[in-house]
Amino acid sequence: MTSVPLDTFRAELERLRGDAESALTAATDAAALEAARIEFLGAKSGRLKSVQKSLGGLAPADKPDGGRHFNDAKNAITACFEVAQTRIATAATGRATTAIDVTLPTEPIRLGHLHPITRTIRRVQEIMGRLGFESVDGPEVEDQWHNFEALAIPAEHPARDPLDNFYLAVAQGNDPLLLRSQTSTVQIRVMENREPPLRIVSLGRVYRPDTADATHYPMFHQVEGLLVEPGTTMAHLKSVLRMFASSFLGGDVKVRFRPSFFPFTEPSVEVDMEWGGRWVEMGGAGMVDPAVLEAVGYDPDAVSGFAFGLGVERIAARRYGVDDIRDFYRNDARFLRQF
Ligand code: PHE
Repeated sequence: MTSVPLDTFRAELERLRGDAESALTAATDAAALEAARIEFLGAKSGRLKSVQKSLGGLAPADKPDGGRHFNDAKNAITACFEVAQTRIATAATGRATTAIDVTLPTEPIRLGHLHPITRTIRRVQEIMGRLGFESVDGPEVEDQWHNFEALAIPAEHPARDPLDNFYLAVAQGNDPLLLRSQTSTVQIRVMENREPPLRIVSLGRVYRPDTADATHYPMFHQVEGLLVEPGTTMAHLKSVLRMFASSFLGGDVKVRFRPSFFPFTEPSVEVDMEWGGRWVEMGGAGMVDPAVLEAVGYDPDAVSGFAFGLGVERIAARRYGVDDIRDFYRNDARFLRQF
């Protein structure tokens, strides 16, 4: 029996190695890789296996060389297979790996926060609470008794003009309801239901048909304060406002009263506050008019009280340095994020 020449054996081995390496390198998924593995490295009928069988056909003197060449080729193909296996496994999990790459900087987490007006309201409630004022609520849709009549604003008073109020097409008896134009309504609602002594503060929305500009808006917020106790004087009013303003704005805020008129207070004043070298009008105040105390069934000879009403937007604008109150309502996140 003529033996297989060593050169032929080696040439066969080289072709096999070339074929195996291109197949393994070209495999892009696990199925292709497995097909190539079976074709070349398969234990039963792989091409490497059949070349191994032909080792027996070499001349005895050629066998050691043939065996070495065979082992070299087998190791090379196995190594090539392992490289392809790693490559395909990495590609398969590649996406998941980048999604949890802990070395990447994260997206900043943006926490929301309260609107500056809400913040201001809560802060006012907190400061007034420390002074003993309980926070109460009142309805935004009011009747004329609470918005006007009980506050000594009679039917012919210009403050009741339809051009100055949002009357609704809904009536109670003959009187149309309206969106409250002031939070002084809450003074009446509380006094009607409770006996003195009283210390309340009420913060909420009020509505007036004003054209929006830097200092006006058809909807805005007021802080209403009311204290009714025997022996109350203007000095108490001024002290409370001054303590409030100093707490809220920080530092020693001066408060100035200018004579004014409100139908439901007597005497009445405009309240100015000085802060950062500037006087700013913050609202109105005064001693509760005896006519109002009578309207809610109190005895004006036994108790007296003071009331004040401040603009929430004004004090917020003052505190945060905002010069156009419309910015509070534009809902522009670039503005709101600053607070
Ligand atoms: N309600 C008044 C206004 O809106 C302010 C005020 C409140 C004045 C309490 C005196 C007392 O202008």
